[in-house]
Amino acid sequence: MKKVQQIAAVALVCAACSAPRLAAPTQSQADAVAGRFPGVTLAQLELGKRTYVGECQTCHKLYKPAALSESEWNEIVPEMVVKANKKAGKVVVDPQQQEAIVRYLVAARTQP
Ligand code: HEC
Repeated sequence: MKKVQQIAAVALVCAACSAPRLAAPTQSQADAVAGRFPGVTLAQLELGKRTYVGECQTCHKLYKPAALSESEWNEIVPEMVVKANKKAGKVVVDPQQQEAIVRYLVAARTQP
């Protein structure tokens, strides 16, 4: 029994260390980028984070939002969405989700 618990504990630790800890988006982040992204909502940032975590670590680890500039994210996310959809052989990130990912990353880097 003890051994089983130890194995479970190790598995948990490794699941946590494989990706940066990404905080949940906040309303104050949505407010901070409302000027850049008219109509942005907290729900959209949440969709962006969910899609980023769900679809963007099949080939490499997740990058921290602060790792790239806003213009780099704007450029790279669409390129990566093409890769993700190609690899899956179907649309796993649609245009709305793509926009949500960009908005989430920019909001999270603007107000970490
Ligand atoms: C099919 C594999 C694959 C998937 C899925 C994928 N990537 Fe990538 N990613 C790569 C490869 C390969 C590179 C290395 C350089 C390149 O091709 O630009 C990379 C590089 C990157 C970089 C670093 C670029 C730089 O210039 O430093 C970022 C950031 C990134 N990916 C973000 C994402 C995001 C966001 C998603 C989800 C939409 C994603 N990736 C999904 C394969 C993938």
